[in-house]
Amino acid sequence: MSVLVAYYSRSNVTKKLAEAIARETGADIEEIVSKVNYDGKIGYMRGGKDAISEKIIDLEALEFDPSDYDLVYLGVPVWAGKAANPMISYIKQNEGKFNDVKFFVTAGGSGFEGTFAQMEKYVGKAPLKTLALTTKEVKRDEFSEELSSFIE
Ligand SMILES: Cc1cc2nc3c(=O)[nH]c(=O)nc-3n(C[C@H](O)[C@H](O)[C@H](O)COP(=O)(O)O)c2cc1C
Repeated sequence: MSVLVAYYSRSNVTKKLAEAIARETGADIEEIVSKVNYDGKIGYMRGGKDAISEKIIDLEALEFDPSDYDLVYLGVPVWAGKAANPMISYIKQNEGKFNDVKFFVTAGGSGFEGTFAQMEKYVGKAPLKTLALTTKEVKRDEFSEELSSFIE
């Protein structure tokens, strides 16, 4: 089975999880890179605003085509109770190209369910599985059991 992990990460938390999933599954890995700058304090505020309005933005060129894969893992941090909008932009850009999907989401502690629901709406299909982890759990490497059942 061919597997792709596509993720967006502003501060490397979701990235750590994405790399662990790719390592364990042997998947290809695509980092979604925004052309909009979300760094620093101003970037944080812009991110919150753009996530709330579900703003579609331009992304750097992608390496992989999701339609080439049986399963795509989509990973994203929560921004203002929603999926960080670079991920929504990625899904939009690849509309109709997803076979099976699984979602993994990191957040300080809230907004997981809304983010899953939003991603499901944009992809147009329900995920086979979801994984929700806090920033702390990822940073402390407290996710090995959840990760095992997520990638099963
Ligand atoms: C603009 C912005 C908005 C955020 N909003 C939320 C939120 O609503 N709820 C929450 O629990 N965490 C929120 N966070 C925290 C991130 O979801 C969390 O730190 C995440 O693990 C960061 O992942 P990353 O390093 O992959 O970007 C927000 C972070 C940013 C930058």
